[in-house]
Amino acid sequence: MSHKIAVIPGDGIGPEVITEGAKLLESLDFKLTYFDWGAEKFLQEGIGLPQDALEMLEKNFDAIYFGALGDPRIPDMAHGREILLGLRTGLDLYVNFRPIMLLHPTLGVLSKNQGIDFVVFRENTQDCYLGRGETKHAGTQKEVTIDESMHSYAGVERIIKQAFEHAQNTGRKSVHLGHKANAIKFGGPLWLRVFREVAKSYPDIQAKEQHIDLMALEFVRAPEQFEVIVTSNLFGDILTDLGAGLVGGLGLAASGNWHPGKIGLFEPVHGSAPDIAGQNKANPMAAFLSAALLLDFLGQKEPAQATQNAVKQAITQGICTPDLGGQKTTQEVGSFIRNQIL
Ligand code: NAD
Ligand code: IPM
Ligand code: MN
Repeated sequence: MSHKIAVIPGDGIGPEVITEGAKLLESLDFKLTYFDWGAEKFLQEGIGLPQDALEMLEKNFDAIYFGALGDPRIPDMAHGREILLGLRTGLDLYVNFRPIMLLHPTLGVLSKNQGIDFVVFRENTQDCYLGRGETKHAGTQKEVTIDESMHSYAGVERIIKQAFEHAQNTGRKSVHLGHKANAIKFGGPLWLRVFREVAKSYPDIQAKEQHIDLMALEFVRAPEQFEVIVTSNLFGDILTDLGAGLVGGLGLAASGNWHPGKIGLFEPVHGSAPDIAGQNKANPMAAFLSAALLLDFLGQKEPAQATQNAVKQAITQGICTPDLGGQKTTQEVGSFIRNQIL
């Protein structure tokens, strides 16, 4: 049975890179349906995430393939919060799965580049991402703003459990918690307490705690120590761009957003990259690797692995866009990768 995929290309380089990955999914016999949600629709019609979108997606699709949002004409990213954060929270996609893997030795920026291969489990439905809070004296020099950062026991527990389950199922020996319990009065200790409680059920896996600021340093000093990391929403956002920087940059960083047993949303970690949009320069590899995560999620292990191998092959042969030092266009890299797989 062919899988049904909702495709949301979005803004900027989103459509450029998603076009390449979507051609792969199409040739694997998936049925793709496109949605034009993004800056243009928001500006023209005032619609970000259409009213029935969540139900419609859950009812009709197995997965969502998503590009990127972000447009200089909408500086506060109102549409992005409504669409992307709306999908993550509205569909309760509490796992944000972000692998950090050195696919080829030439991509590393550190003096010793061996053994970077870990995954970040970023909590995806809580923290300061909910748009809760208030502002007083807006627009004046007396302005005071409060953004609420919400963490519930249940919300913290379920993402930590997913991190330990993943470690157990993939033969990893440790899970690191990235936290800030020394500064964040309520949420910090909650994360620590839940982490320690969940860890008791996984005696074979080392549970390690690290302050998030130190973890940022350790990413650069000794990234080979990490296997599985679990952390809150904002920390995970920042840390995964840093992680991407260690292994080739945003052009290669893939992610999955899911809730076990429900629909999943797969997207590059990068944004709409207005600085290179429309120039046929965007690296489509993150979009291909996100398609690979989608394939894996749908149980298509072979094409998922073949896609990752094809990306490695492109890097080995120098079939790369300028961000990786190459001279190929988005389409040339895309065609090469698909030709390796099909
Ligand atoms: P960005 O990820 O769009 O770009 C950061 C830098 O990386 C830029 O120099 C860009 O050219 C480069 N880059 C990113 N992806 C690349 C690719 N595939 N190939 C080659 N180079 C690539 O981040 P930003 O500049 O902070 O944000 C731009 C817009 O995107 C903003 O509106 C932001 O809010 C939005 N954004 C959206 C998402 C998302 O939709 N998931 C993620 C991050 C940022
Ligand atoms: C990401 C992005 C988003 C986030 C933005 C666009 C809201 O940076 O997916 O990493 O912060 O989650
Ligand atoms: Mn980000």
